[in-house]
Amino acid sequence: MAEKIKGFSKLTKEGKIEWITNTYFENPEKAQEILKYYWHDDTETQRLHDEFIENTITNFYLPFGVAPNFKINDKVYAIPMAIEESSVVAAASKAASFWFDRGGFKTTVISTNKIGHVHFVYYGDYDKLLNFFNSIKPQFFEDTADITANMRKRGGGIEDIMLINKTFEEPNYYQIKATFETVDSMGANFINTCLEQFAKTLEREIQNSDLFTEEEKNIQIIMCILSNYTPECLVRAEVSCPVEFLETDGVSAEEFVQKFERAVHVARIEPYRATTHNKGAMNGVDAVVIATGNDFRAIEAACHTYAARSGQYRSLSDCKVENGIFRFWIDLPLALGTVGGLTKLHPIVKFAHELLGNPSAKELMGIVAASGLAQNFGALRALVTTGIQKGHMKMHLLNVLNQLEATEEEKKQMVTYFKDKVPHYNQIVTAFCQMRGVSSVEELKLK
Ligand code: MEV
Repeated sequence: MAEKIKGFSKLTKEGKIEWITNTYFENPEKAQEILKYYWHDDTETQRLHDEFIENTITNFYLPFGVAPNFKINDKVYAIPMAIEESSVVAAASKAASFWFDRGGFKTTVISTNKIGHVHFVYYGDYDKLLNFFNSIKPQFFEDTADITANMRKRGGGIEDIMLINKTFEEPNYYQIKATFETVDSMGANFINTCLEQFAKTLEREIQNSDLFTEEEKNIQIIMCILSNYTPECLVRAEVSCPVEFLETDGVSAEEFVQKFERAVHVARIEPYRATTHNKGAMNGVDAVVIATGNDFRAIEAACHTYAARSGQYRSLSDCKVENGIFRFWIDLPLALGTVGGLTKLHPIVKFAHELLGNPSAKELMGIVAASGLAQNFGALRALVTTGIQKGHMKMHLLNVLNQLEATEEEKKQMVTYFKDKVPHYNQIVTAFCQMRGVSSVEELKLK
């Protein structure tokens, strides 16, 4: 077992690599070779990556793909996607192309507000606190005027501050709930800095007031933090067309629409299916969120809380057929930024923004939602027609062949061999071994 190491972060990068590989690897030289292989030769680019996080020992690569033909609000995009899962980019491209010829995606930003809280404890009368809070409200804006100056110049800032009584759920627990507009930035640092100032202002004003007893003055700030739940930073992406335009993969338009609608409704009422249904949509969302340097954990957290807002976890998308028109849409709480964070630092993230025409945060919300809807549509379309494995396993074939260290020529032969089949892992391995003239994987002598 490894010993506890002191001062690991103070070691040089080489020192860290040496310690890690010597401590945890049977063949330290081989492990070091892998780390160096993914290390960037250009020292400036590597330094950039080293400084994104702490204790960097190499880079972790994800494929960066592009899904073209996304017509969104009559503008055509090639959408950047960073994702490891086979068939996501192919499915997005296929759905984009399908809807390109049927009017494209329409997106609407419904709202762009973000929320943060000062969570605190107060042992006193609520009405007294509420009156006092309302009387000092301008002070919160005044004390944060320096912090908010730039944001206000860009059209954002603090929208509202209110006191929330939570004592019916937790004794003596209150919140300052603040609403922010952060324009093109995700705004986490801005919001948290404002909240920490609100806490100081509240403490100071209560201390200086004659209205409170000594016990009441003794408020306790528990924490100041933005909420990643952003139901007021909401975007809708929608596709629609006459039902008869939806004949697909040999299934009649009527049957397709009827099964599709039923599949969406299953995901509205059945949490087991809703989770997978939403995971499919998030394939499209996360890939663009990562490629554009945004915080996919925050987006994931917000979307799943939103999916459970009724008290039951449900599908994020919905579908309706009315007067012969098929409509399919998704509402997503997406707190995204197009300035700050990695957006101007990471060379590929910068590339992704340029590829999208350097969109505003609002435009990016629409793009990400359209990608999520496209992915969700692509998955449902496959599920209710050919089944999901057909497309999935084709891409999986290449991954398995890569694992088996197939040459380019061998890959070509295997792709031709499996052209009309839905190959599974064992079948791929067996066919590959046969092609190589060996009887088992062990005989392949993989490196
Ligand atoms: C796989 O990553 C996503 C799907 O399972 C989504 C779905 O079932 O709707 C195909």
